[in-house]
Amino acid sequence: MDIKGKNILLTGGSLGIGKETAKALVEKGANVLITGRSEDRLKKVIEYTGAKYIVFDISDLDNISNKTKECLQILENRVDVLINNAGTGFRRNIEDLNADDFMTIYKTNVFGLSLLTKEITPLMKNNKSGTIINIGSTASLKGYNGGSIYSSSKFAVRSLTQCWQAELRPYNIRVCQLNPSEVTTAFANKERIERDEIPNKLTTKEIAHSIVSVIEMDDRGFINELNVWATNPF
Ligand SMILES: NC(=O)c1ccc[n+]([C@@H]2O[C@H](COP(=O)([O-])OP(=O)(O)OC[C@H]3O[C@@H](n4cnc5c(N)ncnc54)[C@H](OP(=O)(O)O)[C@@H]3O)[C@@H](O)[C@H]2O)c1
Repeated sequence: MDIKGKNILLTGGSLGIGKETAKALVEKGANVLITGRSEDRLKKVIEYTGAKYIVFDISDLDNISNKTKECLQILENRVDVLINNAGTGFRRNIEDLNADDFMTIYKTNVFGLSLLTKEITPLMKNNKSGTIINIGSTASLKGYNGGSIYSSSKFAVRSLTQCWQAELRPYNIRVCQLNPSEVTTAFANKERIERDEIPNKLTTKEIAHSIVSVIEMDDRGFINELNVWATNPF
């Protein structure tokens, strides 16, 4: 898909992977709408990304339908690419598990992601084209100590990706999952402070590059899943 002139809705564009991806897509000529929970953080990156923004908390499940309508007004009822990037996480060991913590993470990573996608797919089906990119994680592939809630939410995203691939390929809709390993961002930082880059760890630029590459492949094909590792993080 040629990115130039395409309408792209990207959740979680005020920081980290989403911010860098929005910038890369705008540089390629896309019309990008980013979301986030904080208007201050969204406003701060407008100059950097060149994207439009809307305050849209995807964990506010009762408002997803109305907020999507606002997005569609801004995007004149056309979404060529949906990037489900907004995500959150923290560690919990088995003895500390509780339903509230599951809900906090699942509302954003699983339920919000699913209900937003549900609002967008009818448009893509009508157009018989579209690309959806779910940002998973290497935690979508393998559990780890303390990962009960986050990792299981990302395993759920991987399952959603595969279900939607089965349902949507007949409509020429490409559904891809991209699984980064550790990227130096504000992820899991309550104060939302971005980490400094570390020379041997992934930065947001490698992930933005991967997302652009996934979209740019000719529409006759698509990358169903892509794992991105740092070459030597040790
Ligand atoms: N960093 C890593 O090591 C890593 C590795 C693998 C996968 N990932 C995944 O990559 C994605 C992006 O992570 P990141 O590292 O860029 O994290 P980040 O720096 O914390 O950025 C997350 C972005 O999502 C927004 N956001 C969070 N919750 C939201 C909600 N409920 N509704 C709307 N926007 C929301 C945040 O803005 P506000 O806080 O203002 O809402 C921010 O713009 C996530 O899905 C994460 O799970 C990250």
